[in-house]
Amino acid sequence: MQCLGKSFTLFVIFLLGDLSFTHGGHVLVLPGEYSHWSNMRNIVDELLNRNHRVTVLVNSASPTINFTQQERFQYLVFDVPLKAHEVHGLSEQLLDIWLQYPAPSKVQIGLQIIDLLGKVREMHRTMCDCMLRNETLISRLTALKFDVLLYDPMNMCSDLLAEILDLPVVLSLRISLGFSMERMCGQMPSPPSYVPVPPTEMTDHMSFMERVKNMIVYVVYSFAFRMASMTLDNYYSEVLDITIFMPA
Ligand SMILES: *[C@@H]1O[C@H](CO)[C@@H](O)[C@H](O)[C@H]1NC(C)=O
Ligand SMILES: *[C@@H]1O[C@H](CO)[C@@H](O)[C@H](O)[C@H]1NC(C)=O
Repeated sequence: MQCLGKSFTLFVIFLLGDLSFTHGGHVLVLPGEYSHWSNMRNIVDELLNRNHRVTVLVNSASPTINFTQQERFQYLVFDVPLKAHEVHGLSEQLLDIWLQYPAPSKVQIGLQIIDLLGKVREMHRTMCDCMLRNETLISRLTALKFDVLLYDPMNMCSDLLAEILDLPVVLSLRISLGFSMERMCGQMPSPPSYVPVPPTEMTDHMSFMERVKNMIVYVVYSFAFRMASMTLDNYYSEVLDITIFMPA
């Protein structure tokens, strides 16, 4: 009898547990572009299979996402004063710089990349402004009562949106150069003698010279990442100061 009582209790716990698991959440997704979206797409499909609702917030100039297509989830589009071919043009430009390698000197390539990164940052800032400083859009997102934000950190200021909407976040990141984001934001343990960083294409069995090379790549990308983040600091402060005074 006692045994039956225990089973009954277990049965009730099982039922309650099951109930809590079948309750789906509402997930806001800020997608990355190109292969980044292919990766996230699998996560989105799996979320839908598990009864969660998904809304994908996409800018009107996305070169990857065809938001007029019918999907199992909802698209929410915000307008940006850019065209998809302009955004795509920047990726083509990166490819061009890559393909001419090693014809021009490394210094020239470095200067071209710095110039391009400046344009990319400018583009991201425009997109951020259109997303974060549009109170109609923010109110609409707030009203949709999301449970979590899933985003790709290659897109600037997705974390600012999470802050404004007061949402917990889940990140989907394919890889960052020098593992900078993973190490400096995600606290990924990565001793340079054992963890080769992209784009070195080495394995975890490195010779002494390979370790030296790995170390140099670590340092260069860490420095570049710090410099890039410094230029963003002001923007983040600016946006957060504004949002502090926004009505909740
Ligand atoms: C986007 O999807 C729509 C509707 O399915 C389709 O008519 C259109 O050709 C697609 N556009 C591109 C660029 O694939
Ligand atoms: C703000 O967002 C709304 C809803 O997405 C849109 O209709 C409106 O045009 C946007 N306003 C500006 C100034 O971009």
